Amino acid sequence: MKEKVLFEKYKKGKHWEAHPIDYAERFADFLLKNNFQGLLADIGCASGKHTAVFRAKGINVVGIDISEDEIETAKVEHPDCRFAKQDAESLEFTDESVAAFFMINVIHYLDKEKAFKEVYRTLKKGGYLFIHFNLLITDREGNIDYSQTESDVMRLVSDFRMVGKKIFERVDAAPKEHTHKILELILQKE
Ligand SMILES: C[S@@+](CC[C@H](N)C(=O)[O-])C[C@H]1O[C@@H](n2cnc3c(N)ncnc32)[C@H](O)[C@@H]1O
Repeated sequence: MKEKVLFEKYKKGKHWEAHPIDYAERFADFLLKNNFQGLLADIGCASGKHTAVFRAKGINVVGIDISEDEIETAKVEHPDCRFAKQDAESLEFTDESVAAFFMINVIHYLDKEKAFKEVYRTLKKGGYLFIHFNLLITDREGNIDYSQTESDVMRLVSDFRMVGKKIFERVDAAPKEHTHKILELILQKE
C-alpha cells in the first residue's frame, strides 16, 4: 500500500521532530476557549512533543502511535504524559468516548477511509477533529515529492461540520530545502 511505502521512506530521518509546535498550541487554545472537557487523543504522536503541549495547558490528553519504539521514547521524554500503542485504523477507544482528536502529519501514512471511520465512531457528538496535512511537498527545483487533493480528503470527512480551514506554506531545511503546502482543518461531529 502506497501510504506504508511513504512511511518507510521517511521514518529514518524523523524530520518532523524539528517541525514547530505552535499548531498544537493554537488547537489547545481553541479547545480551552470552547470549554473543552473530556479526553483528547493525539494520533500518531511519535515522541510526544505535541501531546506535551496539550498536557502543559491542563488538557486531559493521551498520545497514541503504532510504533512501540516511539511510545517508549515518548514515555521517557514526557513522563508526566500518558501514551499508548494503538493503530489509527482500528482504534481501541469505545464508541463516542473521545472528546477531540489531533492529527498532525499523519493522515498521509494511513488508510484514510478506515482511520476517519474510526475517528467518527469514537468521537463524542459535538467533539472536535483537528487535521493538519500536506497537499503538496516540493523541492527548490519544483520536483513533487508528495501530493494529495483537498477534495479526496474532504470527501472522507463530509459527515463533519467545518469549523475552521486554513491553507498556508512552510519551508523546511531538512533533509534538503522543501516546501510544504498545508491544509489545516478543524471539524466538529454534529
Ligand atoms: C510524520 S510522524 C508525525 C509525528 C507527529 N504527529 C508530529 O507531527 O511530530 C507520523 C507518526 O505516525 C505514526 N503512525 C503511522 N501509522 C500509524 C497508524 N496506523 N496508527 C497510529 N500511528 C501511526 C508513525 O509511527 C509516526 O510516529
